[in-house]
Amino acid sequence: MTVVHPNLEQTEAKMRARSVSVYYGDKKAIDDVSIEIPSEFVTAFIGPSGCGKSTFLRSLNRMNDTIPSARVEGTIELDGEDIYGSGMDVVQLRARVGMVFQKPNPFPKSIYENIAYGPKIHGLADGKDDLDEIVERSLQRAGLWNEVKDRLSDSGTALSGGQQQRLCIARAIAVDPEVILMDEPCSALDPIATAKIEELIAELNGRYAIIIVTHSMQQAARVSQRTAFFHLGKMVEYGRTSDIFTNPIEERTKDYITGRYG
Ligand SMILES: Nc1ncnc2c1ncn2[C@@H]1O[C@H](COP(=O)(O)OP(=O)(O)OP(=O)(O)O)[C@@H](O)[C@H]1O
Ligand SMILES: [Mg+2]
Repeated sequence: MTVVHPNLEQTEAKMRARSVSVYYGDKKAIDDVSIEIPSEFVTAFIGPSGCGKSTFLRSLNRMNDTIPSARVEGTIELDGEDIYGSGMDVVQLRARVGMVFQKPNPFPKSIYENIAYGPKIHGLADGKDDLDEIVERSLQRAGLWNEVKDRLSDSGTALSGGQQQRLCIARAIAVDPEVILMDEPCSALDPIATAKIEELIAELNGRYAIIIVTHSMQQAARVSQRTAFFHLGKMVEYGRTSDIFTNPIEERTKDYITGRYG
């Protein structure tokens, strides 16, 4: 059972997971997790290595489908629609629920093409001018436009690590997502690049539902308004970020946030 802090404001759920368990073969990696992801906040997933944060995150846009042994039980809804239902188009789903990974992974293509690719395949651009506009707007929202506007034809892989990660965020934004999942997006970045991504998350907050997995308690406290603490495949405690960090209820949460293990 998850301890849910009682003083949460009523919010609209963008995504809703009910009794979700995830298996790799016979091994249960996520055990009976239920959570509502609000549309207007950043939600942080924290917990020790191996507790299932990435597994659960991947189940939210069916990235687990790419792992043959992975199996998801329970239901996950996006705007009330079952994302594992037979009518769900997975390519469409992954545009609506975008993902940014630990290691920046730009395509080995130009900066422009990195952003333009998604809108093109999803038919979101009405001609070249419209596509140019989407590329510019996405790069602006990702705080990268001024740094790259004169070199859009350079390879995305030629950018610095921090710039590459903002490029990947711009790429996710370009297809007009509703939710952005970020799995330790700063763990390969230096403190300055990390600060830029954190600023960016603050700017994107409210426009997209954002979920960030992080090993940095400071980062969770800085960027999120909701925090879920995971331990051994279970979601132990969920609440406002300020409450989780200042008034944790469960012993395991207390131990983790005070650094007794991790
Ligand atoms: N592709 C896979 N095949 C089999 N088992 C897996 C796979 N991916 C993860 N696991 C197992 O599932 C459990 C949860 O792993 P997961 O990567 O979700 O944890 P995590 O909380 O993201 O850890 P970290 O903080 O180290 O990234 C672990 O026991 C892990 O070994
Ligand atoms: Mg992980």
